[in-house]
Amino acid sequence: MSGPDTLPAGCLDAAAHAALRAEFPLLETCVYLNNNSTGATPRGVERVLTDYWETLRGWRDDVWQGWHVGLDRYADSIAALLGAPAGSVVTDANLSTLLARVLSCFDYRPPRDRIVTTDLEYPTVPFIGAAFRRYGARLDVVGTGGPRFDQDAIEARVDERTLLVCVPHASFSSGATIDLPRLVARAHDVGALVVVDAFQTVGAVPLDVTALGVDIVLGGAHKWLCGAGTAFLYVRPDLVERLAPAATGWQAGDRALTFRVSTGWAAGAQRFAGGTPYPLTSLISQVGLDLLAGVGIGAIRAHSLALTQRVLDRAAAAGIAVVSPTDPQHRGGVVCLDVPDGEAVKRRLAARNMICSWRGWLRVGPHVYNTLDEVDAFMDALAEESSR
Ligand SMILES: Cc1ncc(COP(=O)(O)O)c(C=O)c1O
Repeated sequence: MSGPDTLPAGCLDAAAHAALRAEFPLLETCVYLNNNSTGATPRGVERVLTDYWETLRGWRDDVWQGWHVGLDRYADSIAALLGAPAGSVVTDANLSTLLARVLSCFDYRPPRDRIVTTDLEYPTVPFIGAAFRRYGARLDVVGTGGPRFDQDAIEARVDERTLLVCVPHASFSSGATIDLPRLVARAHDVGALVVVDAFQTVGAVPLDVTALGVDIVLGGAHKWLCGAGTAFLYVRPDLVERLAPAATGWQAGDRALTFRVSTGWAAGAQRFAGGTPYPLTSLISQVGLDLLAGVGIGAIRAHSLALTQRVLDRAAAAGIAVVSPTDPQHRGGVVCLDVPDGEAVKRRLAARNMICSWRGWLRVGPHVYNTLDEVDAFMDALAEESSR
């Protein structure tokens, strides 16, 4: 059983899809369904790397002027993808750095000293949260031990003692998504701020931060955004001036580029900058982001849902247990499968050039450049390898 051969309305047409695929050389070498872990790198990156080398080879300090333009352009492109205004996003090396900077803005004084979070976080979130216990933060972890969010239980724990609600948009391990509109409404009702780790969704699932009214969103380039080595932080523009990170650096100051000690903060999300930035990773990551922006997040989501539906249908036909929610409303870009001896199965699939990941469950994450045929080929191989 393989299901329909064509994709639903709203997806790229065949010619546009073939042109998009041609931008990603990795796809010529394997069936690559590992995008929730690391997205494919577009061929345009080679040119950026060559230019970068030429820049270093003929170094002059005024190169920084162009690099700052590139850094700002990438941050503003992320903002556009999120439905946010220019200047509301800043980048740094990884999400952990930015999250710690966010948590360093608060005093954690009773009665409002709690961080409500879930048991489906990426490990960096509880680790950083625990580190802030020394400053008075109290972690309130809500979970079922299973693969889904218990939305009612999370919302029930958010009250006047809650300073921050820190949740993923989708779980890295199960692919389940959380209902952000409901959660933001509940948090704001009691005066709490919502911090969302959207690493597993941005680039695959639409997220309009302005419409949502969410306070803080973090994510990174190297998965669904087909970039490398950079992460981002969005802060609600009307909130940013009330936040002052203790973990900071000179680039967050209002006089950064004069090389004098700043006395105030830079405008917008730049107040969450650290030290000397990393231009190369933004320049590289711009290439994938531009390709995805050219497709549009609506078409990406339509394509993703069609391919993940095929994974679900094929899993059901093969008798493979599905861990992720099957309802499109509650699933992100990945389908997690409960495959006995899954790590070994993943390795055997990789030996057949069928690439996915394993984090307790087998994670199958097709992106907009994948095809239904690739999903079928992968699921054929999975059915064989999991019955060995
Ligand atoms: C949900 C989520 N958050 C965070 C990270 C990584 O954070 P960092 O950029 O700090 O390595 C990942 C995966 O790499 C992730 O899946």
